[in-house]
Parts: sequence; structure tokens; C-alpha cells
Amino acid sequence: MALAIRRFPDPILKRPTHPVERVDAAVRKLVEQMAATMCAHPRCVGLAAPQVGSTLRIAVMDSSRNPKVAESRGLIILVNPHVTAAEGAVLQREGCLSIPDFTGNVQRAARVRIRAHDQDGQLQEFWLEGFEAIIAQHEIDHLDGKLFLDRVANLKTDVFRRRTSL
Ligand code: NI
Repeated sequence: MALAIRRFPDPILKRPTHPVERVDAAVRKLVEQMAATMCAHPRCVGLAAPQVGSTLRIAVMDSSRNPKVAESRGLIILVNPHVTAAEGAVLQREGCLSIPDFTGNVQRAARVRIRAHDQDGQLQEFWLEGFEAIIAQHEIDHLDGKLFLDRVANLKTDVFRRRTSL
């Protein structure tokens, strides 16, 4: 079942999240609902718990939902994710289900090493690059109470109104 999306300026989007202490049935259910919510929005490639009203440090992402992406790990579940290393820089246009009417130019690291637990509670550490690196950084920002609007260099020149709302 898809969950309702919280939109800017809902204050939950500005609040840092709490780490998950144990990956239990409730956490797995939330992960499942977040994946279903992502799938309910055709252009959505990532979702963070605050966007569905939870204050837990959880995100889901799937770059393969964008048909232009050639290589993808598919669905990635991120429980308590952190960036442990970053390399390079890229500037790219980003959007967000919680900010449905705008996109923005955001600078991100080109490659990031992520440490996170998976849906079984196992600690994983891996590198992401390209589109997946950007999605992971965007979602981890959500978990720290940050939106892409907080990352654009200039709100006047780097934010754009969408022709069609998400
Ligand atoms: Ni977002």
C-alpha cells in the first residue's frame, strides 16, 4: 500500500531522523511500504522515511526506474545509511516528490562509499557512482533534514519551475 507524500514546507522534512535500533517486523513493513510508494510514482527513483511521515533513518532507491539508466543495482534498501567516503564532483538537475513543482541544479560527489544496514539488518559497505551516487546523496540528505533546495548555489538562477508537476 502506497503512503501519502509529505510536501515542503512540512516541518518533518527539516528534522534529522533517528537511527533504527533493530531491523524488526515493523521496520521491514515500513521498508515495504516505502518501496510500494516509490513504485506508485512513475518518475520516483528514491524515497526517504520523512517523506512518508516517519522519523527513522531509512531510505529506498532504485535507479532502474529511470528508463535512460543502462546499469543499475536495482532496488537498494538503506537502513541507517552514511557516506563514508566521496570522490569527484558533478552538477546535475534534481527533483523531489516533496517539492513537486520545482527542479534545481545541485552539486554532488561523483562517487560515494555508503555504509548501511540492509533489510535483514546486515551491515553493508559499497561504492556507488553515476546516477545511483546522486540518488543516495539526495536521500541521505533527507535523513539529515536537508532538501535539494538547501544545496543549490543560487535560488534565483539554479531553481526551475516544472512544466508538469510531479
Ligand atoms: Ni527527495
